[in-house]
Formats: sequence, C-alpha cells, structure tokens
Amino acid sequence: MQKEINLKQFSNQLWALLKPSRQKIIILVFLIILVEALQLIGPYILKIIIDLILDFKTEGLGSISFWIIAMFMSNQIASLFAYVKDRRSLDIVTDSDYYLANNAQSKMVELSLSYHEKENTGNKIVKIQRGIDRIRDLLLSLLWEVIPTFFQIIFTTVVLFWVNFWFGLTILFFVPIFVWITLKVNKIVHPQRVQIYKKGEEASGLMTQSIVNINTVKSFVQEKMEIKKFRKVNRAIQDNAIQVFGTSMKFNLLRTLVINLGRTTILFFGIYLIWKGFVTIGSLVFAITISEKALISLFRISRVYDQIMESSEPVARLFELDLETSEIKNPKYGIKPKKIVGGIEFKNVSYAYSDNRRKALKNLDFKIVPNSMTAFVGPSGGGKTTVARMIFRHYDPQEGKILLDNYDLREYDLYAFRNFISIVPQDVEVFSTSIQKNIAYSKPKATLKEIKKAARIANAEEFINNLEEGYDTQVGERGVKLSGGQRQRIGIARAILADPQVLIFDEATSNLDSYSEKLIQDAMEKIRANRTVIVIAHRLSTIKKADQIFVLENGQVVEKGTHQELAQEKCSLYKKLIDLQKLSDIE
Ligand SMILES: Nc1ncnc2c1ncn2[C@@H]1O[C@H](COP(=O)(O)OP(=O)(O)OP(=O)(O)O)[C@@H](O)[C@H]1O
Ligand SMILES: [Mg+2]
Repeated sequence: MQKEINLKQFSNQLWALLKPSRQKIIILVFLIILVEALQLIGPYILKIIIDLILDFKTEGLGSISFWIIAMFMSNQIASLFAYVKDRRSLDIVTDSDYYLANNAQSKMVELSLSYHEKENTGNKIVKIQRGIDRIRDLLLSLLWEVIPTFFQIIFTTVVLFWVNFWFGLTILFFVPIFVWITLKVNKIVHPQRVQIYKKGEEASGLMTQSIVNINTVKSFVQEKMEIKKFRKVNRAIQDNAIQVFGTSMKFNLLRTLVINLGRTTILFFGIYLIWKGFVTIGSLVFAITISEKALISLFRISRVYDQIMESSEPVARLFELDLETSEIKNPKYGIKPKKIVGGIEFKNVSYAYSDNRRKALKNLDFKIVPNSMTAFVGPSGGGKTTVARMIFRHYDPQEGKILLDNYDLREYDLYAFRNFISIVPQDVEVFSTSIQKNIAYSKPKATLKEIKKAARIANAEEFINNLEEGYDTQVGERGVKLSGGQRQRIGIARAILADPQVLIFDEATSNLDSYSEKLIQDAMEKIRANRTVIVIAHRLSTIKKADQIFVLENGQVVEKGTHQELAQEKCSLYKKLIDLQKLSDIE
C-alpha cells in the first residue's frame, strides 16, 4: 500500500506550483543562511568573554564590557533578521495559499465541459482543498523548521570542526543516527497515519450521510445500525492514533538517548582537551552551546517525511490540473460580433464522445434560418442534446464545421458569441441562493422589474409569489426546496432575461404538467419573434408550431419538414412518434 515517492519528481512539481513565489523563496533561503550564521556570533562572543574572565586582569575589564555589549548587539541584530525572515516566510505561505486556491478554482471553471464530464468533480474539489492545506503545512514546516535546521547543522558542524576536530566528529557521528531513527519511525507509523486520515474522511462521510438521509434512516428504523457503523470507524481512528503516538513516544526515548550520548561525548572530549591544553574553557562552553541548540532543533524536523508523503499526492494532482488545457481553444483574435443574426448551419458534422466508440453525430447536415423556430425530435440517444451543446461550442466537431452567421464557430471569440446564445437544459442547475439571484444569474445587473417580467413570461411568477418570501426565498442546496417543474421555469426565466438571439430549449418542458406546459408554449410564442429558437422535445404538442422539424436518429437527420408534412407521410418515424403519443395521452 505504501507507495514510494519519487523525491525528484515531487520537488520539481512543487517548485513548478510555487512559481510565483520562487524569487521570494530564493531570497528567503539566503536570509535563513544569514540568520543561522548570525546566531553563532553570540555564543562565540560568550566564549571570548569566558576566556577573558578566566584569565582575569583588571586592565581587561574594559574589553570584557566591550564584548558584553557586542554580544547584546549581535543577538539583537540576529533577532531583527530573524524577524524579517519570519515575516517573509509568512508572506510566502499566505501568498501560495492564495494563488494555489485561485489557480485551481479558475482552472476548474474555465476547463471545458468534456473535462468535467470525465472527472468526478465533487470529489475532486474536496481533495483539492485538502491538498492546498497539506501543501501549506509542508511549506510552513520547510520554511520554519527544515531549511533553518539544515543550515544550522551544517554551520554548527563546520564551526565545531574549526574549534576542534573531535567536537566536529562527534556531531557528524550522532546527527545522522538521529535523522536515521526519525526517518525510520516515520516510515513505521506512516501507514497508520494514512489510516487515521482515511478513516477520518470515512467518518465524516458517514456522519453526513446518516444526517442527510435521516428520513430513510428513521423510516426503516436503522438508527442503531447507523450509530454502530459510525462508532466502528471512529474506534479505528482512536486505535490508530494510539499506535502512532505510542510508537513515536517509544522512539523518542531512543532519540533522546542519542542526543544525551552526543552531549556526554562532547563533555568528555572537552574536558580531556582542556586538560591537555588543546582548547580553552570558553571554547568548550561555545561547543556545548551551539551543539545543544543544533541537537534540540533536530526534533523539529521529525514530521517532515510524513508531510512530504502526505502532500505528494495533492502536489501531483494540482500540478496535473495546472497542465490541463481546455479542449475548446479560444482564438486569439476571434470575431467579437456586436450582434448576431442567428443563422446556424451544420456542415457534415461528426462527433464522438471521447469515451464512446459510437459516433453521437454522423455527417450531420442541416440549416437553420434566422428568426425561425426549429424543433429536434427523435428517440433517446439520437443526438439532440449533443447538437444543442455543439451550437454552444461545448465540444468541437471532429469532422465538418458549424457555422453561425456563415462564420465557423471556431473563428469567434468564445465568450463573445456565447453571449448571444442561451440554453435551457433539461436539468436546470440552481445555486444555493435566492430565487431573484438565480434568475438574475444570466444578467447580474438586471433590475427587479426586469427579473419579474422574465419570471412572468416563463410562467414562474405565480409559484414565486406563493412562496413566503417571494423572490427572496432561498432555494437551498441544489434547489432542493423547488419542484422539478419549478426549477425548470427558473431556468427559462433566466434564459429569457438574458434576451439571447439564439434560444435553445433542451426538453425544457419535460417536467411540467400539461397545463404548465401549455403556458410555456404560450411563452415561447411570445418570445420567438425576432430570434432563432431551437426546441428539443419529446412531447410533440410543443413543437407543432415549429417552422421546421428535424427527426434525429443515430446522429443523423432521417426526416425533416413541418408538422403537417411529416404527419402526412405514412410510414415515417415522426408519424410513429405521433401515434405512440396519442396512445399514451389516452392512457
Ligand atoms: N457526456 C457524454 N459522454 C459520452 N457519451 C455521451 C455523453 N453524452 C451523450 N453521450 C452519447 O451520445 C449519444 C447521443 O446522446 P444525446 O444526449 O445527444 O442524445 P439525446 O438525443 O439528447 O437523447 P435524450 O432524448 O435521451 O435526451 C448517446 O449515445 C449517448 O450515449
Ligand atoms: Mg437529451
């Protein structure tokens, strides 16, 4: 289960993600080096002072005072630089937190629909958010603990070698042992840490599920079972936590032993060397002070291995997301029409979804004249929704082209031409906010009057006025407080408010009863003037008045004409659909 991580790849990916902070990080590392070097000066001055005291002469009093003040000054300077360093680390960490989240969010919003269809987005978002938290923790520990400790150890070792070879050797001997034990214990408890993390997710999932579906839980008297399930997972977290901390504590005994052995060795060497006259007492105090500091800071890097392991997956995920490009390319100097006429033409268009071998559209050819009403009908899976989405350029055809006012869609600025087209999808998405804001989503600056007018045309006014808070009613997560038909009418009002030149209804009346459907049909009559309307519908009553009807089957237009024309043909697919529907109407 434990995946070895590729450290080189990991650091490359992390470095790529932190691109905006690179320069700051490099400067910070220099600051860290400076601070760690400055922090050695204080103890060194102490050594000088001690040696002066031991060799006390009255005329030396002046220079002792001088060194005491120098020590004070150098400590102050070191603390000042340490402050600047900490401040800058803080900047880097908060900065990266900010832009990593921003980049991930804007990438997600801008990637094409086909990307979102192949990924389970809901899950991803949670993971990305957690990933950013992990990276922040890692960064904090690297900037505050690991890098400073690393340089501190290097400086301390070099200086100790300079003071005396044996001191240096002692550090060089004990530090690697300590680091080795740290890595070892991290490796041992890592699987359990992963378990804590996984089970934690599972527990929060269980808690949510049992509360969200509380109705079902209660109606089937499953409260006890839910409680039992949750306790079991929670128990596993506790067991793992005890193991992790238990093991770490045991190994801490070992690590403390290593440090104590180091201390003792330095003392032994020190006293021996003083006795032999190789070092002064001041030098020994100096060696003890700096080695003590370095050994203690070793404890601070205990969790780095874990943190790298934990953040390796999110780092890779964010890195890949960053590389992801939208399949729909927006041309650099695309046409930005001031307005469009609304003529649409499919020329020999073929399209297959990436995960589907069967072509959804096959050499599709048709023409829609401006300001007409065109209907698409046909069996499920025939390609109607695909056509609608292609007009919006959610996907590009693999063969052929789609023309809007005689220009290939790919020549337009993506956002410019989309402004003139609205789709009312079958499953209207609503945001967890008020009805007013939901309708106004297509035109955020709309006045309440305009919003109300759109709602009236969409036949949504009546039910909205019946709600306690009217247009200010909160619709809840995913619009749970609205019925399917109500959601659909919100979607229609939203599209009407946008006042598009091309309006596409994709089964927009499928969730409505016959009466409401009739009202929507009336609404369509009202708004079809001076715009191109495309209606996809199973209910043929909706499309009777269309100027042109296309019957789509297996991604091809198999029949076309007006309702009258098609209904007259004896063995047409359209005729069959009519007959079937008449039957179901009676039933
Ligand atoms: N996101 C997708 N990924 C893969 N294949 C898809 C996707 N959407 C649709 N398809 C496939 O493309 C074909 C056409 O689907 P489309 O949704 O356009 O049909 P439709 O005519 O709108 O059907 P319905 O009347 O049921 O809404 C179907 O075979 C379907 O399985
Ligand atoms: Mg469809």
